[in-house]
Amino acid sequence: MKLHRLAVVGLASAATLLVATVAGAAAPPRGFHPPSDSLRGLAAPIGLRVGNAVNMDKLNVNAKYTGIVADQFSTVTPENVMKWDTIEPSQGSYNYAPADQLISFAQQHGQLVRGHTLLWHSQIPAWLTGGVNNGTISNAQLRDILKQHIISEVGHFKGKIWQWDVANEIFANSWDSSPLPDGINGGDFWISHLGEGIVADAFRWAHQADPKALLFYNDYNIAGQDGTNAKSDAVYAWVKQMLAQGVPINGIGEQGHLDTQYGFDGTKMQADLARYTSLGLKVAITEADVRTFVETTDGNQTPTDSLSQFAQPFEFDQMLKACLAVSSCISFTIWDVDDADSWVPSTFAGEGYSTLYDVNLNPKAAYTTLKQDLTLAAHGASHRIGTNS
Ligand code: XIL
Repeated sequence: MKLHRLAVVGLASAATLLVATVAGAAAPPRGFHPPSDSLRGLAAPIGLRVGNAVNMDKLNVNAKYTGIVADQFSTVTPENVMKWDTIEPSQGSYNYAPADQLISFAQQHGQLVRGHTLLWHSQIPAWLTGGVNNGTISNAQLRDILKQHIISEVGHFKGKIWQWDVANEIFANSWDSSPLPDGINGGDFWISHLGEGIVADAFRWAHQADPKALLFYNDYNIAGQDGTNAKSDAVYAWVKQMLAQGVPINGIGEQGHLDTQYGFDGTKMQADLARYTSLGLKVAITEADVRTFVETTDGNQTPTDSLSQFAQPFEFDQMLKACLAVSSCISFTIWDVDDADSWVPSTFAGEGYSTLYDVNLNPKAAYTTLKQDLTLAAHGASHRIGTNS
């Protein structure tokens, strides 16, 4: 039994090393040792990276926040500072400093970095949208600007990014107006000006600029959450077609933004993740959070329905188990460290309680639940004693 376990752990470490080499990650840091019972420590034996979206206004400013990021997570995603509006605030002038700071933090703490994101309709600078809208930027120029941006940004971070979210949220939803879902959203800023083929080009340009980075398509409701599964079916059909055409896509990222009011079936997520991997792709949960309705009067984000405090960790647990069940699910990233820092309250009226830590940065039930899952995943349950069998 012991030997068997050792062999499994040995294999898992070899796999971790391989992933780290492919990513061009820095050598393990000498002085930093995360706690063995942290999320990252417990996930390490099976080679899973557990991550978070980092707010650069808090990193190295708030000590408790910074300690949690360092101790608990083995991959980090810049919450905002690799997006267009931060990186290229005016045309041709690049602002890499905040993202460089995150990368150096990651290197000091043995963390891999997810790059986020290159082709997305949101958080693009006013000079770009304004120019397109008033006609001073033609579609041909827009294409050149995008190409230049991708090649410059991916080139700047070459060798330091493990996974890039090359394209984000391009597919239509069931609630979008006609023509109905089942495909790429023709109303998307980039698609409406440059056509669907621009998505493949974005992947080609990113690959050209950093051939070793793993290139991901990232979206929400594309792994089991969507009632009819139309969006997931559409992404699957599209990526299969892209791969057949030789487009350099390595993975699919399911954001994993859940809401307790809709319920959630982790086995459906697992099935959809497995379906992507059947194409030879890797998958990742890239922005996991589970929101619910909360009291908004005192700032504590207490769930209004007492059962939500059980539903919230349950849905996190189901998501992690779906990832654990699929061996090509290589990372599980949570979106924001604590409830006070979360994007949820300002985005979804009346909702919150979406992360693993409360508004005072103390761990909640969801944190403990994920630790239990990771412990069982890495070590299994110990064999029963005293059964006389
Ligand atoms: C969010 C950030 O968390 C906020 O700070 C920002 O104001 C808006 O964007 N899907 C994504 C992320 O891919 O980039 C978004 O992040 C959340 C939804």
